[in-house]
Amino acid sequence: MSKADLIVGLQWGDEGKGKIVDHMAQTHDYVCRFAGGHNAGHTIVIGDKKYALHLIPSGVLNPKAKNIVGNGVVISPKDFIKEMEQFGDLGGRLFLSDKAHILLPYHAMIDQARERMKGDKAIGTTGKGIGPAYGDKIARVGHRLGELLNPEKLTEKIMAYFKINASVFEAMGIETPDEKALLEELEGYKAVLAPFIMDTTQMLWKILDDHQKVLLEGAQGTMLDIDHGTYPYVTSSTTVSAGACSGLGLNPKDLGKVTGIAKAYCTRVGNGPFPSEDLGEEGDILRKNGHEYGTTTGRPRRCGWFDAVAMRHAVRVNGVDQVALMKLDVLDGFEEIKVCVAYEVDGQDIDYVPYDLEEATPVYQTFPGWDKTQGIRTFEALPKTAQSYILALEGMIGTKIGIISTSPERDDTIIR
Ligand code: IMP
Repeated sequence: MSKADLIVGLQWGDEGKGKIVDHMAQTHDYVCRFAGGHNAGHTIVIGDKKYALHLIPSGVLNPKAKNIVGNGVVISPKDFIKEMEQFGDLGGRLFLSDKAHILLPYHAMIDQARERMKGDKAIGTTGKGIGPAYGDKIARVGHRLGELLNPEKLTEKIMAYFKINASVFEAMGIETPDEKALLEELEGYKAVLAPFIMDTTQMLWKILDDHQKVLLEGAQGTMLDIDHGTYPYVTSSTTVSAGACSGLGLNPKDLGKVTGIAKAYCTRVGNGPFPSEDLGEEGDILRKNGHEYGTTTGRPRRCGWFDAVAMRHAVRVNGVDQVALMKLDVLDGFEEIKVCVAYEVDGQDIDYVPYDLEEATPVYQTFPGWDKTQGIRTFEALPKTAQSYILALEGMIGTKIGIISTSPERDDTIIR
């Protein structure tokens, strides 16, 4: 029996998981998504073609790999079908869990209406309907992908759902769908997706029993986890490694090597605490040099320094075996580089993530910068100050930095 390798984000998402997943997908037979929805996203360039991935696992770009979307994911059929269109025939290479939940256009409307109503307390969601879709799942009023196989029955259930929630929807300005149009919409989804819907849990057990190589692809990041992130400024799923078990039907013993992805600095989109955010000129330089704009929404990302306290929390909660440190070259040219090594809360320094991170102010240690790491492919060839920076981070986070990325190019990667 083989064990599944896992990739998870250690910060607030957008750590550059795409480059590592894409690289590892070349050597795995199956790539599986276990959480999130089309709020996630990365772009992969191959030759002169650009692919935008939101829900389909990155294995789609390796013709030999097969792809599973697990029960822990919320799937917008409309967006999924649009994404599929980039790839031609995916028959036999794509499998969708019948237990994944369906995200429909009204979920996005609810998401956006709630955000509007919250005003300056808004979470800053992607507006894709992720919270309402997971909310329905947990409240046991959601609809599973398997139900798409019987559009008449699903239409009836959705109409009943609208009836029960009529007053809430009216207050939000959300209209009840026309029953005939809804049925047609669902029939259209069924026509495309039915061949891909199955019991992916049984399938995955068999794949592991057959000693095949499986890669589990996380979405978002640890600090956006529903339990272990900066609640309520989080996404609505379990983004940490435990989510890979519940989101695919695996048990903890099925998991193999855990690679945690982190940038050499930090970013965050949306609202919520971010202690090491740099609102000055240096934050602007990080945004410009790192092209820090959201893939899904195009929003400018908030930028700041590496947060070693949040990282230790992430390493522990995910059981990280090695860290891949991305975008080291974005720090090229800084005279000094800051690292958040503790938080000050109520006049005291603490070395853990407190209940309310909003209360924490960063305690920084400063490191000398360097001229250029861009494109360097061995640790020894890095400037001495960059080597010291990495070794110091390793000491602070208590795990090995096994991979260092020095440009978006696939080959500009140091493996230690
Ligand atoms: P939601 O997932 O759309 O509900 O958004 C909740 C929070 O998670 C917001 O702050 C979003 O900006 C953030 N978020 C969701 N998906 C991603 C992602 O893929 N990268 C970075 N942030 C994300």
